[in-house]
Amino acid sequence: MKRPDPAAVAAVRAELEAKLGAGQVSADPDQLEVYGHDESDMGDFAPQLIAFARSTADVQQVFRTAFAHQVPVTPVAARSGKSGGSLPLYGGVSLSLERMNRIVSISPEDLTAVVEPGVITGALMKAAEELGLFYPPDPNSWEFCSIGGNIAENAGGPRALKYGVTRDYVLGMQWVLPTGEALRIGKRTIKGVAGYDLCGLFVGSEGTLGVATEITLQLIPRPRKVMTALVIFKDVLEAARAVSAMLASGLLPRCLELLDDVSIRAIDGRGFSFPPGAGAAVIAEVDGNHDDALLLELEQLSQIAAAHGAIDTLLAQDDAQREKLWAARRVVSTALRALKPFKISEDIAVPRSKIPEAIAGFKALGARLGLTVATYGHAGDGNLHANILFDGPHQRPQVDEALAQMMRITVELGGTITGEHGVGYAKRAFLSLEQEPGLIAFQQRLKTFIDPLGLLNPGKIFESDG
Ligand code: LAC
Ligand code: ZN
Repeated sequence: MKRPDPAAVAAVRAELEAKLGAGQVSADPDQLEVYGHDESDMGDFAPQLIAFARSTADVQQVFRTAFAHQVPVTPVAARSGKSGGSLPLYGGVSLSLERMNRIVSISPEDLTAVVEPGVITGALMKAAEELGLFYPPDPNSWEFCSIGGNIAENAGGPRALKYGVTRDYVLGMQWVLPTGEALRIGKRTIKGVAGYDLCGLFVGSEGTLGVATEITLQLIPRPRKVMTALVIFKDVLEAARAVSAMLASGLLPRCLELLDDVSIRAIDGRGFSFPPGAGAAVIAEVDGNHDDALLLELEQLSQIAAAHGAIDTLLAQDDAQREKLWAARRVVSTALRALKPFKISEDIAVPRSKIPEAIAGFKALGARLGLTVATYGHAGDGNLHANILFDGPHQRPQVDEALAQMMRITVELGGTITGEHGVGYAKRAFLSLEQEPGLIAFQQRLKTFIDPLGLLNPGKIFESDG
């Protein structure tokens, strides 16, 4: 696919300014530059135009107008994605949903919320909690990412261990297809099995099958008590084995997050200090309604950890301490950037019993290729963010080899190339390691059926697309 002709983009701009209003369209070079990158470190791909939708009708209009002129459209949420899903690889229009940011309603009786896609995830969490309710999906970017982006990527987070991911909370959506049709899919009830599960298909479709303009989410009662412990180990393999043992113990903590030595070094002192000698750490968090029960659970987890070599378990004394620890955890990804000039962050998931093997494999790989590998993440889910840190482009051949080997190790262990960040642009070359040609071809036929012109977010997920 080629970047569209400027004349075609100018025609789209004029038409959208007339239909949406001049203030809803931008061709300001500085703003285009901003919308050309995200958190994936995959480079800069500025769009030629940004359209800001304020309604379902606006989204329909953007698709119809742009596609009539053969101009591609790439939906964009808060640009916090890690796989390049919102990068307009071939220019064209970035379709932003950020101005559709209303929490339409929250029903404590039905335990549901109706929201627009631009609602910041943290704002929904807070609004629900004020009513004694709970929206569990907690991608680490929750302070600035939005529900629409979470839906596009089927975002997970630390609490996915106990509560699942975004898809598990989407009951229904107003969905706009690339043809411009708007469909009300799913349901407003907790149960319901009429027709195909289109919510299941569209959540996680990475902006390639359309856009949600209104979402009905399931909420649950808010657990009244939360307790958090930081378990310190000398060595990451001991920590990984302890996590496997905790998962097999019959307890279900809400989070089991792992930090290796490099990750600890990156965040130590940023509002939270780790004890000297910490070579790895596990954040274990439990929730429920009774302090006594939670204390007993943490004690049991701490005993399992000790049997696997833990040197200390520190219990967060209050909410302020908990928040400091989590704030440090949330910045791992950014903090690692400060250790070396270049970083590639991975997002693999392996069956839980294989976590120690995966970590050992990645560390050995780093040692063999002379690269620093930092591994952290949602160990309880087997979802590890393995990061390769390097000094400069001269190390690129080793980095590429490390990436390919990491993916191979993961798939050989029965894992997946992406646990929560999506395939997007970053991982499309690896999809064929995990999925057989027939499966990829079937998904591409589905894409063509829904987006016959192939102009919605081209170049994502599949290598041969665009
Ligand atoms: C995290 C993001 C990178 O877990 O998914 O920090
Ligand atoms: Zn993560």
